[in-house]
Amino acid sequence: MKSINGSKIPPLFQKLQLVLAPLNTLESYAKKYGDIFTMITASGETVFVSSPQTLQEILTKDNNEYEAPGNKILQSMLGEYSMLSLSGDRHRRERKLLMPPFHGDRMRNYGELICNITKEAASNLTVGQTFIARKLMQEITMQVILQAVFGLYDSPRLSQIRSMLTDFIELTASPLRASILFFPWLQKDLGPWTPWGKYQRQQQKLNELLYTEIAARRSQLDPNRTDILTLMLLARDEEGQGMTDQEIRDELMTLLFAGHETTATALAWAVYWVHKQPQVYQKLMEELATLETDADPMTIFRLPYLTAVCQETLRIYPVVILTFPRRLILSAIYSPR
Ligand code: HEM
Repeated sequence: MKSINGSKIPPLFQKLQLVLAPLNTLESYAKKYGDIFTMITASGETVFVSSPQTLQEILTKDNNEYEAPGNKILQSMLGEYSMLSLSGDRHRRERKLLMPPFHGDRMRNYGELICNITKEAASNLTVGQTFIARKLMQEITMQVILQAVFGLYDSPRLSQIRSMLTDFIELTASPLRASILFFPWLQKDLGPWTPWGKYQRQQQKLNELLYTEIAARRSQLDPNRTDILTLMLLARDEEGQGMTDQEIRDELMTLLFAGHETTATALAWAVYWVHKQPQVYQKLMEELATLETDADPMTIFRLPYLTAVCQETLRIYPVVILTFPRRLILSAIYSPR
């Protein structure tokens, strides 16, 4: 059997390299070993693959040869029912329940919501004023998640939930803070002032708020609302079963985790690159000028040059550089076909 090359440096250093300088580390390994190599990560010895064909095979071919092993880091943040850490039938069920909100007219509604929130945030800026793009984008994407996903507008719980979610997300803002998620030996509750103790208490308080909101919305279910929490409360699987409170909490946290910081970071990079390249700025402005006032969000979404700018931004500095690991199901390989 052909072996796969990989780093020989001590495992702890390999993990640190990946947490502290992920892009440089992956690039230097790829240069040295090509598009398949091994490295020690928080999940143990891991094979890294970067050839597009192999990636497509692993991630999209429904051949039941790979599973997404319950990721401990994720489970501690998002819960055991999060779509991001489910495999097989449970993953398929959850996707079916969650997919309807991401189609057709609903996408137009969310598009309008996103345009309004963005206009509102931009209206607070004045020409010539310096602003921190990432902070502004985080405010926009947090507001989008709170309204589109949680359906929170002016509820009294809104400001409490917003500040708890912001604190929670801050945990992943620097490699140093995020280390407590990657190194199990740092996960010891030694009181409210220690990092893990603080995290545990924050999470408990946030859960209480979320379960209270879920219970309140369940008791006064309004089928006309289009937010994703309402759609989850209304969703039924093939057996007519709805989602439990815990499943809903875990998927709410998943959408926040998957959708907030990713989009904020990508948008901040887009602003950076568009300003760094005057010819790109110029061409983009010309294309945007062809839009009518209050253009339909789906028309904005289809603009070709804007699409190219978004894709190039994500290509230069991908905000999600890795997928979650997949594990080979050995029985799928060795059982007779
Ligand atoms: C720039 C923005 C984004 C990037 C780069 C991105 C990237 C990714 C990647 C690479 C995965 C695959 C992870 C894996 O399977 O191992 C993923 C999954 C996922 N993302 Fe995003 N994402 C973005 C925005 C969003 C937004 C806005 C939402 C929702 C509000 C979202 C929700 C999800 C969910 C639910 C999954 C899991 C899907 C499943 O397991 O079937 N993402 N994303």
